[in-house]
Amino acid sequence: MAGDLRGEFLLDPDVVFLNHGSFGACPRPVFAVYQDWQLRLERQPVAFLDPLRGYAAWMRQAREALAAEVGADPADLVGVTNATQGLNIVARSLPLAPGDEILTTDHEYAALDKTWAAAARRTGARIVRAAVRLPLDSEAAFFEALAAAITPRTRVLFLSQITSPTALLFPVARIVAEARARGIWTVIDGAHAPGHIPLDLDALGADFYAGNCHKWMMAPKGAAFLHVRRPLQRMIDPLVISHGWTETMHSGDEPGQFGNTPFIDSLEMQGTRDPSAFLAVPAALAFRRAHRWDEVAARCRRMLDALEARVCAMTGHAPFAAPGFRAPQMAALQVPDCDIAQLQRELLARFAVEVPCFLWNGRRIVRVSVQGYNTQADLDRLVEGLEALLPAAAAPALGR
Ligand SMILES: Cc1ncc(COP(=O)(O)O)c(C=O)c1O
Repeated sequence: MAGDLRGEFLLDPDVVFLNHGSFGACPRPVFAVYQDWQLRLERQPVAFLDPLRGYAAWMRQAREALAAEVGADPADLVGVTNATQGLNIVARSLPLAPGDEILTTDHEYAALDKTWAAAARRTGARIVRAAVRLPLDSEAAFFEALAAAITPRTRVLFLSQITSPTALLFPVARIVAEARARGIWTVIDGAHAPGHIPLDLDALGADFYAGNCHKWMMAPKGAAFLHVRRPLQRMIDPLVISHGWTETMHSGDEPGQFGNTPFIDSLEMQGTRDPSAFLAVPAALAFRRAHRWDEVAARCRRMLDALEARVCAMTGHAPFAAPGFRAPQMAALQVPDCDIAQLQRELLARFAVEVPCFLWNGRRIVRVSVQGYNTQADLDRLVEGLEALLPAAAAPALGR
């Protein structure tokens, strides 16, 4: 089955692609729908981008399909280019003051650490980084690590749902509820979550949630969303002020100018743009349904579980998470001391394996993603590469 699925993707057949996590990969039929939207835009740009002649209605349809998938009301989410953009909108919009604290963890995505550092610099707020210890094996320990760092000055809780460097599945629900009960704004980075784990955003109840559709949902690149709880939507200021913004949108319950709420209109109507990636989200969802992606994902997870056990036996390092606390299709595998950038280069040059290798908090990590187009042979190739390239320190465990 995986062999069949490989042909559904545009990925270079000469590369063993184990880095779905960074930018995703879009199936051919979904990409064709994306290109079709682009052609329609180019054929008649005036008609296409006129909100009254199609654009607003098409965007609404895409929002509705996406909202049903992530457990949200379509009026509470809006398409953005990527999770980074969605989270920057939030960080810019929150009225922070000197001495306020932004509580986060030491597992966040580097670009978002910068986003909050810039917000802190602009407002005088302070970043407080709670350490989440490895291995992650209990919801209570996770909750305690964050709850213990809450102070009367904590105004924001910012957490990934699935972490980038460590591929952990943070059990965020309890701490989100606790923070909200204490009047703290909860901001969740769901870059890796849509299409990877089941989502029910309404049940989660985070104030602000940004997710990517171009990673695990397999929409074209540039498809993402920002979800904001209804009472907070009037706080949101777009990064780009354009036709959809009005001077009074933050104060009243006025309707938007283009048939949606001001929250949606102000973020959707942003000058000349190509919305095709977002418009192709329903096609990505249809592709997943047609290929019974739940079953595909379960197969991927089983292959990854076995790979993790194999590499841990090779290196002598423990997994970063107990079962249930790791991203189902992504694992961060610690490897022995080595030139980690060189390892990544050589895996590609000598074994044609594309996989990210990096240093995180003093640990050397190979982060493996397994998606429907991967086969057991792909994972065997990675193991072969690691066996050949890892330093002698790993040799005893390798039986060499
Ligand atoms: C946890 C996390 N947040 C945010 C991002 C940024 O995603 P994007 O580049 O689509 O904005 C990534 C990208 O890998 C990520 O891993």
